[in-house]
Amino acid sequence: MEKKELLYEGKAKKLYATEDENLVISEFKDDLTAFNGEKKSSEVGKGALNNKISTELFKLLEKNGIPTHFVKMLDDNHMLHKKVDVILIEVIVRNIATGSLTRNLGIEDGTVLPFTLVEFDYKNDELGDPKLNDQHALILGLVDFQDELDKLRRMARQVNDILKPYFAQKGLNLVDFKLEFGKDKEGNIILIDEISPDNCRFWDMKSGEKMDKDRFRQGLGGVTVAYEQVLNRILGK
Ligand code: C5P
Repeated sequence: MEKKELLYEGKAKKLYATEDENLVISEFKDDLTAFNGEKKSSEVGKGALNNKISTELFKLLEKNGIPTHFVKMLDDNHMLHKKVDVILIEVIVRNIATGSLTRNLGIEDGTVLPFTLVEFDYKNDELGDPKLNDQHALILGLVDFQDELDKLRRMARQVNDILKPYFAQKGLNLVDFKLEFGKDKEGNIILIDEISPDNCRFWDMKSGEKMDKDRFRQGLGGVTVAYEQVLNRILGK
């Protein structure tokens, strides 16, 4: 499958058309951004690592009954996937408090939450991705029905129920992550985007070391080394 015209360029990926109107190709870029694009850099190999990690995790989720847009990895930086209508809601799942949750609500960093928290952010760079409640999402027309919001929450919890024990077996705490969803041509809600250390937080269970984009956000260095370790643990190396 060949890349045709560029459809869209995001912060971490470029999206290309293919000869099949129902399939598109994502090119995973080496660019790193944080704080809504205010901090920018690039790390050689980061895109390929995220493509490989996402490929493994999409396969794992599909095997466990979660419908995703994944079709196949084409090469180091390219993934073939289904074309969808993107739902402009970022679904955030949290097991341990950190990041914006500690900043916004004053919960101590590292607090294990009494239950898994699922939140919605409006996927809108201009507005800085504000928090949404269900009424906001319906008023904005981001989905058609309350049922669809319930489905997003249910699917996000199912993903967490698969990934949290999977990473625990590999010595990593799945602290939190962001999911995106879209509607395929039949109108089914499916998981899209990527699942990688760019949009998940992983803490090593023994050392507490951060193995994700917080290394870039917080200027800790060793970004690709950490991402590579996440891939190696997934591959059982
Ligand atoms: O910044 P915050 O604590 O809200 O992030 C929660 C989780 O969602 C983190 O894993 C972060 O990487 C991810 N996230 C993301 N893209 C955003 C906002 C958050 O991937 N725009």
